[in-house]
This record gives sequence, structure tokens and C-alpha cells, in this order.
Amino acid sequence: MSIRKNRLKISEILQKGTTVPATQVMGWVRTKRESKAGLAFVEINDGSCFENLQLVLTMADAGLTDIISQLYPGTSLQAAGKLVTSQGGRQAVEMQVESIEILGSADPHAYPIGKQKMSYEYLREYTHLRPRTNTFGALARLRDMMAQSIHEFFHQRGFIWVHTPIITANDCEGAGKAFQVTTLDLAKLAASGKAPDFEKDFFGEPVNLTVSGQLEGEAYALSLGDIYTFGPTFRAENSNTSRHLAEFWMVEPEMAFADLEDDMELAEAFLKHLCRAALEKCPREMEFFRERVEPNAIARLEEIASKPFVRLSYTEAVERLKSSDEKFQYPVEWGSDLQSEHERWLTEKVFQGPVILTDYPKAIKAFYMKVNDDNRTVRAMDVLVPHIGEIIGGAQREDRLDVLTSRIQEMGLSPESLKWYLDLRRFGGVPHAGFGLGFERLIQFVSGMGNIRDVIPFPRTPGHAGI
Ligand code: 4AD
Ligand code: MG
Repeated sequence: MSIRKNRLKISEILQKGTTVPATQVMGWVRTKRESKAGLAFVEINDGSCFENLQLVLTMADAGLTDIISQLYPGTSLQAAGKLVTSQGGRQAVEMQVESIEILGSADPHAYPIGKQKMSYEYLREYTHLRPRTNTFGALARLRDMMAQSIHEFFHQRGFIWVHTPIITANDCEGAGKAFQVTTLDLAKLAASGKAPDFEKDFFGEPVNLTVSGQLEGEAYALSLGDIYTFGPTFRAENSNTSRHLAEFWMVEPEMAFADLEDDMELAEAFLKHLCRAALEKCPREMEFFRERVEPNAIARLEEIASKPFVRLSYTEAVERLKSSDEKFQYPVEWGSDLQSEHERWLTEKVFQGPVILTDYPKAIKAFYMKVNDDNRTVRAMDVLVPHIGEIIGGAQREDRLDVLTSRIQEMGLSPESLKWYLDLRRFGGVPHAGFGLGFERLIQFVSGMGNIRDVIPFPRTPGHAGI
């Protein structure tokens, strides 16, 4: 017998109101209150939506008295009864309970999720239970809706979702920040004092977890035209900041027959689509973030959805930074990478909105970016947004075989291991471009959450890979 056959989710109950005859709900207790008039009010949540459902129980009812005394926050239960117009509850409907059964008890002295305000740091110790809170429930629903909207955006435009590998022999960004994957016995190797023999390793060569699906994505773009990848990526960056994770999700569209201009247009349309989607599809969650996390959350998204993004070259940005009165922790010089404080100054103070910076010095960007005629800069673009800084990084790709080959050599990479990538220029190369959007930075930006560790269910950062 199915136990969920007669069950309605709270989201369904709130949609249908009191028109539903007697029904059954299941969920976890959030709060319990007993009134002098002999009633107990128990709020339950089942994760289907932001709202709780209030259960009203008559304490004198012989079948209920005993159970009421065992209901604490965290207890799971199923209840059946009549849906009626609520007298004083926060929802339009509440349930007059006729029967109730505890599914799982929760020790009130040990349950770590209390009614009192808990800090995000405290909740990081309980990543397995924090989805029971309003904030983390809302974030989980927002992540889901944003992921659906990403697929919707590309699907509508005829982009094909390509599944690129997690284990790979290449390091796309070439920054040496990849996690090595091996089945060699490291303890034995260390004891023997010998160098590892990768021919004996699982794949017969050194491999790592992917830092980006771009290179493989390019192969499909140069056959299918418009593609995107969306999956987890891994970087062993030892940066303990509020914007870096060791495991994060990236969305990477790649277009054949496209240049940097097309790339910027796609990136802007994409971010606008996602801001609108959050407002339209998660109105209750966005309202919550506005009230509890970032007062500007909604206004900010509305503005981004309607205003054109500023476009500026890296060189112009550096000039503005150098001539400003602002005291920066890191000095700015042409040729150095911009720090988050610089990116935030440009987006928050100068332009008060998203900025697309283009044409960065080639020395601070990856090998695959198309070199400009000045031979000093590349056709790169980063999209910067207030509060986050860089949210998107992309480029037009180098499509000239000879230039790409010498860039690979210049950067100390091996043309031999990238032979397949060079083939894409050897056999019918075309102008092409793409970008990567960090999914967690997007969720951080939309929700206003301050720390990236709180917008992914189970964050991985240096020293932390537990649950
Ligand atoms: O700028 P990045 O390194 O670009 C690439 O990986 C290109 N292969 C993308 C492409 O052109 N297809 O990374 C892209 C985005 C950044 O803008 C940022 O939003 C996010 O990925 N990102 C991170 N997010 C969380 N934690 C980290 N350690 C991140 N590193 C990059
Ligand atoms: Mg970047």
C-alpha cells in the first residue's frame, strides 16, 4: 500500500484552499503552542514550499493528548483532518486534526535546529540539517529554479547540452590548480622513495578532475554550432574567501561562428533572463531574501533586467582605478589582475551596475584566448556585478593554428597533449567564443548571501570536505 497516495503537499493545499475534503499531510514540526482554551497549534513544514501548515489539535481529545506531549521541533508526523479557513494562523487555511501519528521522534535536548536565530557559521556544522531552516530551504528551491531556467534559456535558443568529462588529462585554465586523480598507492610509493610511474596508474597517464568543460565543449561547438555544458568543476585553489569553492558548478556556453561581441550579447541576455526568472518563479523566496538577507535583493534584480550593461576595456578600467581617490589594499598597475576590491569599486561606486571588461593583458589570461593585433591583449571579457565582482569569464578563442601553437609553447604547455585541440583549428576552424558562469556566484548574487559556502548544499573548501 502506498503511504503517499492520500497525501497532499503543503504547496498543493495552499493552492487548493478549503475546497479539498479531508486529507492527509506529512512533515516536520517547526513549532508548537498550547492555548488556555485547550487547543494545541502545531506548525509543520514539508519542504514543498516556503509556508508552514498550522495543525489545530484539541488537547482534551483522548486520541491526541498523549501524542501532543511528544511533539517537538524536528519531530516528523503524518496527520489527517479537515481543512478550514484559518482563524488566526499565518495561512489562509489550517487543518483541524482528526488523527495524527508520529513518524520519527526528535530529542528536544539534542536537536540542533532551534527556533532562536542561528548564525550561518553555526549552521555550517550541520550541513545535513540546515535545509530544515527557512533560509536553506529557500536557497535549495532557488538553486533548483535557476538550474531549470538555465536549461530553458539555452533550449529556447537551440543550444545543445553537452556532457563533458569530469576526469580529464588537460588543465584548461593552465593554472596548475587541478586535483590529481590516481589509483597508485601513495603510502607505498612514499615508503619506497621512488617517483610515481604513471604508466602503472589507472589511465596510464596523470589525470585530474576538470577545472572547466570548455576545451571539450569547443570540440562539440565546432561540429554542432551552439552548445553548453553545465556540471561540477574542481579547483585546488588555496583561497579561503567568501567567493571561492574547491568544488563548484559552472555553465559554459560555446558558439561557433561568433566573436567577442556575440559573446557579450549572449552573456548579458543570459544574466537578464536569470534575474527575471528569479523574480517571476521564486517570488516568495525573493521576498524572504529581501526581508532577511539583503534589503536591495529585489530592486537590484529588477534594475539589472532592464538596464544595459556598461562595457569598458581593461585598460580604461585601470586608468579609472589609478586616478581615483579610493584607498585600495592592492595597488593597480596595467598588467596586474584586478582584485575583488577593484571590481567592486567599479560596479558599486562608479557604474552602480554590471560592467563587462574586455581586452585583458594576455599574460594574465589563459592560452586559448584570441590575441589582439596589439599583441599585448586578448579578446577576453569578464562580467562583473556589484557585491560579487567577477561572475562570468569568457573569450573569443584563438582560431589561428600557428598563433595558438606558439601560445601553448609560451605558456609552458605541451602541444603534443593538446594535439586534439589543435586539430579543431587544423580541420575547418572557425571564429568561436564562449564563457563560463559560476553557478554559486549567481546564487550568491541573486539571494544576497554573503558567503559562497552557504549557497551550495555541501561546500568543499581547503580543509573541509566532510558532509
Ligand atoms: O574565469 P574562469 O576561470 O573561466 C573559465 O574557466 C573558462 N574556461 C570559462 C569559459 O570560457 N568557458 O571561471 C568562470 C567562472 C568565474 O567567472 C566565476 O564565476 C566562477 O567560474 N569561478 C568560481 N566559482 C567559485 N569558486 C571558484 N573557485 C571559482 N573559480 C571560478
Ligand atoms: Mg576568470
